[in-house]
Amino acid sequence: MPGQIPEETIEQIRKSNDIVDIVGEYIQLKKQGRNYFGLCPFHGEKTPSFSVAQDKQIFHCFGCGKGGNVVTFIMEIEGYSFYQAITYLAEKSGQELPEQIQQKNEHHSSEHQDVLKAYEWLTKLYHHLLRHTKEGKEGYHYLLDRGFTDEIIDAFQLGFSPKSKDFVVQFLENKGFHRQTMVKAGVLTANEENDVTDRFRGRVMFPIRNHTGKCVGFGGRTITDQQPKYLNSPETELFQKGKLLYNFDLARPQIRAKSEAVLFEGYMDVISAYQAGVTNGLATLGTSITESQAKLIKRYVDTIIICYDSDQAGIQASHKAAKLLKKVGCTVKVANMQHGMDPDDYIREYGADRFKKEVIDLSDPYMTFLMKYIRKDFNLNLEGDRIQYVENVLDELAQIDKPVEREHYLKELANDFDLSWQTLAQEISTRRQKVGVQQDKPKQTSHTNIITKPVKTKKLLPAYHNAERQLIAYMLTDVTIADKVKEELGGAFNVDEHKVIVTYLYAFYEEGHESNISQFIEFLPDHATKELVVQIGMIPIHDDITSQEINDYIRTIYLEQSDKVKINQLKAKQKEAERQNDPVKAAQIGMEILEIQRQLKNSNH
Ligand code: UTP
Ligand code: MN
Repeated sequence: MPGQIPEETIEQIRKSNDIVDIVGEYIQLKKQGRNYFGLCPFHGEKTPSFSVAQDKQIFHCFGCGKGGNVVTFIMEIEGYSFYQAITYLAEKSGQELPEQIQQKNEHHSSEHQDVLKAYEWLTKLYHHLLRHTKEGKEGYHYLLDRGFTDEIIDAFQLGFSPKSKDFVVQFLENKGFHRQTMVKAGVLTANEENDVTDRFRGRVMFPIRNHTGKCVGFGGRTITDQQPKYLNSPETELFQKGKLLYNFDLARPQIRAKSEAVLFEGYMDVISAYQAGVTNGLATLGTSITESQAKLIKRYVDTIIICYDSDQAGIQASHKAAKLLKKVGCTVKVANMQHGMDPDDYIREYGADRFKKEVIDLSDPYMTFLMKYIRKDFNLNLEGDRIQYVENVLDELAQIDKPVEREHYLKELANDFDLSWQTLAQEISTRRQKVGVQQDKPKQTSHTNIITKPVKTKKLLPAYHNAERQLIAYMLTDVTIADKVKEELGGAFNVDEHKVIVTYLYAFYEEGHESNISQFIEFLPDHATKELVVQIGMIPIHDDITSQEINDYIRTIYLEQSDKVKINQLKAKQKEAERQNDPVKAAQIGMEILEIQRQLKNSNH
């Protein structure tokens, strides 16, 4: 329960964060009829069973059963407490929380909060030094020389760390931060003698923000020839290089708008490309892309363009990244750049326009890139090499799951090498059988036509159970229906969980609330009940339900109820008969019970 946070505040925060927008920041949603669908972020799946109802402001996954409102969603996906989720959403929509709540929130993992605060201060400090002081001049000029404008320096909050042993040590101390906490979090460093010093000295600073826009670490580039070229914050709980993507927070809306992301190797490339108008760029943090990063990207977007350095190492890395991204289901393209350059070099040499038109827009589809990649190792003028090359390409083609895509490249290959198309197709089929990939099935439900996905083959529910669910679905959206049911049926629902729900619902309406599923679930006592309400809330209902239909539901429920009562009475009589040593009578009663149960069963189907 909300506890100290006033209900109106919570409601206000929920109202200003539309669930479709918030969920849309984590997964791709497609509208289908009244609701939105996507791949559930809480369990692995290939066909979408995750749905969001905008009118009701709730989400529900038919696959894993998770469901709730916008607050629950943030709690689940970010691992936040209720308070953290509320704070996060409040901040997002530019709302102020009452002070006592802020304090309460800071209570949660205060060390993390301290580190985040320290990083926030340091970002400002480094940036200020670079932009406005003598100490930062060198760094500022370095960036200007590299072609960055003031606007871009400000947008990325680039900074400079002074060449001092303990400038930051002093600064943080004055702000009241605890030394050992700062060392532990990698903000400061300590040697064996426990001398605490600044980690970054004389470097251009790149704040690295997590997906919620909070700085969780730095990359610092030398402007002389210090080693290493880039020094990064050490790996901590907050700063996990294998899970973060540089610039994810700024790029996210752009990625969604363009339905495409561009993956770079370095900070400089991302920023340079951003300045050139390619605003949907991300980068890994000096390590090759991990499966968890690949999956993160896939949650937001299908198509990813890999734009790495075009030297030997870069191409090697592109190959690795392409394979991994393909494996998690992305449509992969690889940008086309002149040999040896990196994106930032290219932009400086040829300008933004050519970068966009000739590198990004003309990027190669995955197989084209692979074919070029494989070709490097062969001299196609030699017969033996040609055969080897074709064999290698066939190996790759066999791994492509889409028949249309396979066929396209197969034809290309057949043409290029003057080979019979049928032979090549046969080769592919043999290869696919060997590695045990599934042979082509009739076309699968694609991302865009879902809707009639069967809910896990559950047993058919008895009629009274269905009637209760239907009725509650109406009660959740219409106070007058709830009132009517309350009068005629009260709490006399047959399923215990339903009894709980209606009891809470009557109370909710009695307190003067309008019908509002998203708000209502905050009032429920436990997780399971919340999820059940959301599940019922997703049942499609008609706006023009007649009172006749409502009455039918009520009657179905009522009849079941009285049969149950009857059976219970009979069972008591039967026991009595047994006690009085009257087996004939007991058997007769047993028959009666069976008869009622049989009738019940029949009427349920
Ligand atoms: P690069 O060496 O390609 O640097 O490393 P860059 O991005 O072109 O940077 P400039 O143009 O020389 O300034 C690519 C990325 O690898 C990581 C950084 O994230 C860098 O952006 N890296 C590189 C490190 O973490 N440490 C290093 O010592 C070098
Ligand atoms: Mn570079």
